[in-house]
Amino acid sequence: MTLLEISDLKTHFPTQSGIVRAVDTIDLSIRERETFGLIGETGCGKTVLGLTLMRLLHPTTTVEGTIRYRGKNLLTISEAEMRLIRGEEIAMILQNPTTSLNPVMRVGEQIAEAIRLHQGLRRRAAKEKAVEMLDSVRIPAASRRANEYPHEFSGGMKQRAMIAMGLACDPALIIADEPTKGLDVTIKAQITELIKETAKEKAMLLITHDLGVARALCDRIALMYAGELVEYAATEEIFENPLHPYTRGFLGSLPGNGLVPIPGMSPSLIDLPDGCRFHPRCSHAKAVCRKKHPELIEVEAGHFVRCFDA
Ligand SMILES: Nc1ncnc2c1ncn2[C@@H]1O[C@H](COP(=O)(O)OP(=O)(O)OP(=O)(O)O)[C@@H](O)[C@H]1O
Ligand SMILES: [Mg+2]
Repeated sequence: MTLLEISDLKTHFPTQSGIVRAVDTIDLSIRERETFGLIGETGCGKTVLGLTLMRLLHPTTTVEGTIRYRGKNLLTISEAEMRLIRGEEIAMILQNPTTSLNPVMRVGEQIAEAIRLHQGLRRRAAKEKAVEMLDSVRIPAASRRANEYPHEFSGGMKQRAMIAMGLACDPALIIADEPTKGLDVTIKAQITELIKETAKEKAMLLITHDLGVARALCDRIALMYAGELVEYAATEEIFENPLHPYTRGFLGSLPGNGLVPIPGMSPSLIDLPDGCRFHPRCSHAKAVCRKKHPELIEVEAGHFVRCFDA
């Protein structure tokens, strides 16, 4: 069953230097209980996509298309309805725990606040639930730690606290933005395990640079480049049979494969190249790639690629 269906989604930021086409155009659906990985180089629009789904962008942002969650278009419902969806139905674990946690509020209180707001629990019950949540993400001595401030938490513990906050209202869909970024190997493995447990019962959009994490956790993976998806398929298919030159390049830049980065840089989202957006960096580019923008085509059942060569 489809839980979230995104069609024709565009998110554009008008700026002094021009229109930043951060999401341009995304079609994608996430099934109940599925873990869907979203991968791509820095600046390709992953976080903006997440924030668009949560409707957390500044009102001057242009958003077009539809985002259907259990059939409801999140782009047309009222702010009051959206507030109910946020937290209770869909939660986002933000990319940077240091700036996402309020530095002057005790960690337990922040989680309790979210619970009180969404579940209408009394202060005391919410506090108890917050401690339970911290305990469930394996923060040791949770009842004592709940009274500490974010700066007293290590990086891994902050990340756990963010996950606890995301899970506090028992959402059906979690958008996890780079939950393992900046963590050392051991802590990363622990957080990955924690996300894996969490993802068993929930649907998740997992945004990551880390292909190892994606491979371990995701049912399907999509590669995003310059605001659009260039390939998506079941996880094993992506690793065994990558078809887009960008995907191949990305897999090739894995440490296990000798770390050969893709030459060149991703294009400016204000001034996207004609034709295939990847053609200036593609060693297989032909004349058509410079002129025509390729469609996302289903080349095998469930395997979609945006490339004239596939
Ligand atoms: N409010 C804004 N106004 C203008 N441009 C923005 C705004 N927010 C984001 N952008 C631009 O949108 C593009 C996509 O940004 P986004 O944060 O989604 O990238 P990302 O894929 O999450 O990168 P990273 O992997 O580094 O987190 C970037 O070029 C960014 O500068
Ligand atoms: Mg990001």
